[in-house]
Amino acid sequence: MSLTEFSSGAPLSPPRVPLPKVTMPALTEMKHQGKPISALTAYDYSTARLADEAGIDLILVGDSLAMVVLGHENTLSVTVDEMLHHTRAVRRAVRRALVVADMPFGSYHSAVAEGLANAVRFVKEAGAEAVKIEGPRVELVRALTEAEIPVVGHLGLTPQSVHRMGGYRVQARTADAVLQLEADAFALANAGAGAIVLEGVPREAAEQITAALPIPTIGIGAGPDCDGQILVFHDLVNLTFAPPAKFVRRYADASAFFRSAIERYREDVEHRAFPSDAESYHLPESARRMIRINREGADSMANRVAREELNQQSNRR
Ligand code: KIV
Repeated sequence: MSLTEFSSGAPLSPPRVPLPKVTMPALTEMKHQGKPISALTAYDYSTARLADEAGIDLILVGDSLAMVVLGHENTLSVTVDEMLHHTRAVRRAVRRALVVADMPFGSYHSAVAEGLANAVRFVKEAGAEAVKIEGPRVELVRALTEAEIPVVGHLGLTPQSVHRMGGYRVQARTADAVLQLEADAFALANAGAGAIVLEGVPREAAEQITAALPIPTIGIGAGPDCDGQILVFHDLVNLTFAPPAKFVRRYADASAFFRSAIERYREDVEHRAFPSDAESYHLPESARRMIRINREGADSMANRVAREELNQQSNRR
């Protein structure tokens, strides 16, 4: 709502239908039931609320926000404090979905204790229900699990490794590399990870790992055989100002939608077509009458003064 929209006592938004909360164990249950898991990124209250109300199972406050929200070239520069800020906004919006916060680059890459301390901040200060970490960091996943913090692993194309990979390239392209990926996925699962994002890997690799693994895989650019799928919200609605990757399906053209709305607004302002009388606040009739009377009184007073001045001038002549 606009800040100046005053409530008439009615609820500000429709009552939210109570739904069973999605938890990390519920995701594993969905895998066993063969029920696909829907996941989407969100970085702010309104998008998270739409995603939650649309029935998305897992909402990831991804470090992709560095690029799609903050305009950075890659994900490396986003800080823990920035991620916490966005996670809090998402947390306030979500009732049903599992809220997962991405641990940003540098927040878990040195000592396990430091990674643990940063993960605790996401749970304690921002309300995250799980954290996501990139790479086969088995020791850290074990420590987080022992500290009661659910973990989503992330293997394959891990954007925080962009410099090591030499760009955003599809990973696990050989039989050996697929075996290594599978071993890493098992190591993470055995250490306590509740789910694993598989990004940018051949469909066959994802299919094999998904079939073997006891925990769900959530694919992005990993083909249709994963237990779930995740996309970056801005890719889904065309808000990235860049050609989409092969795996992206655009479900809406928000760029065109918003651009046209903003242009029409600017034109209306320039032509004084906005706001209209109906979009203006009005005084009650009694106050308007009083103003008219005062104005007429002021006018007649001004006329009298003017007349007197004229008289004085003619008398002087
Ligand atoms: O940061 C992000 O958006 C992600 C998804 C691509 C899985 O990690």
